[in-house]
Amino acid sequence: MTKRVLITGGAGFIGTNLAHRFLSAKQPVLIFDNLSRPGVERNLQWLRETHGDLVQVEIAGVQDMRALRQAVQGASQVFHFAAQVAVTASLIDPIYDFEVNARGTLNLLEAIRALDDPPPLIFASTSKVYGDLKEVRLQVNDDRYEPQDEDLRTHGFSEEWPLNFHSPYGCSKRAACQYVLDYTRTFRLPAAIFRLSCIYGLHQFGNEDQGWVAHFLIRALENLPLTIYGDGRQVRAVLFVEDLVDAFLLARENIKALTGQAFNIGGGPTNTISLLELVELIRELQGRPSRIVFDGWRPADQQYYVSDTTKFWAATGWSPKVGVREGVTRLYQWLLESRHLSAPPIVSVSELIDERDGHVPGNGAANGHVTSKRKSKIKKLFGANGASRRRAAHKLAKVV
Ligand SMILES: NC(=O)c1ccc[n+]([C@@H]2O[C@H](COP(=O)([O-])OP(=O)(O)OC[C@H]3O[C@@H](n4cnc5c(N)ncnc54)[C@H](O)[C@@H]3O)[C@@H](O)[C@H]2O)c1
Repeated sequence: MTKRVLITGGAGFIGTNLAHRFLSAKQPVLIFDNLSRPGVERNLQWLRETHGDLVQVEIAGVQDMRALRQAVQGASQVFHFAAQVAVTASLIDPIYDFEVNARGTLNLLEAIRALDDPPPLIFASTSKVYGDLKEVRLQVNDDRYEPQDEDLRTHGFSEEWPLNFHSPYGCSKRAACQYVLDYTRTFRLPAAIFRLSCIYGLHQFGNEDQGWVAHFLIRALENLPLTIYGDGRQVRAVLFVEDLVDAFLLARENIKALTGQAFNIGGGPTNTISLLELVELIRELQGRPSRIVFDGWRPADQQYYVSDTTKFWAATGWSPKVGVREGVTRLYQWLLESRHLSAPPIVSVSELIDERDGHVPGNGAANGHVTSKRKSKIKKLFGANGASRRRAAHKLAKVV
């Protein structure tokens, strides 16, 4: 029997895209997710409708050691994406952020270590481990910042850049990284780390706290104002998710050579865009301008971050293929179509805002705890402790 791929956080944006690639090649996938990100139920429904029984589902959190120990059984490889993903939410509840990101990763490592033949692990970390990068001298070039240093401008930030953990999210992700790296040394687990930055694409439920390209497009489609924190000249190198999926597959193929290493993965210097430039691109796509509201800078916000992906390119030959204009247009089209076709989610965002414990900032669509009301809804849909995965997925498909 073909072994399954385990993806923690597999109902999320990146997880769904990676799962889809494996499932399209008839490789079974176990999605381990507590569905705490509002909207990701739709991803699960879509995967189930598209790939049927090849999709297995375990509704559980990475804090649940027993569930993790079961999930790793029979896994050919593990991709670890489950996380508290927002810097903003981590500022409000650092302990929850730690429990999910640091402790949850350690739980997973322990579950893998207990196996006779541990499968390779690829872990999604973040460029936020480089801190707010305030030490970099910038200059203004029209609607964007750029580094004064020519080398940095041309290549971006390499893995050699000093780590500087800023925000509880930066710390918890870095702690997780350190455990992954150490388990490759101390226990010889095969594992590699991607320090990701600004991934965007289909199946992304972007919100104000994470996923800004999708968030801006969704707001513009809803005719709502776009809030820019700071002056909008901050620059990111954005990476279309299909390019990221290619990188994950290459990492898996080359895991022997890559194990014990971290790689910066992002759009690189050819795929940079500032917030103001994205607003302009959205104006072109929509044929009309969006209303813009400016607010103060957010803590730990990097004014300029571009991944230097040379190390991963040298190891695997990978480089991004989808340019910014093409990628943003594809996401825009998908949002248009999916909004037109989509049924209401199982639990509406407004319901979640009402029932939230009051510790999640932003527009209410951010990640947070699974509240008790939501837990009971999920339980009703999926059965207690994620039992009866297949039946659960059928239920989900019917209900949504
Ligand atoms: N998207 C980006 O630009 C980006 C950038 C840097 C790092 N990352 C990292 O990549 C990973 C995937 O990001 P994404 O954009 O797909 O986010 P996402 O929020 O769409 O996916 C994360 C998934 O994890 C699930 N989850 C959250 N807490 C959980 C828990 N305690 N137990 C089990 N499941 C849980 C959520 O329900 C969600 O489905 C994350 O680890 C994130 O930190 C992403």
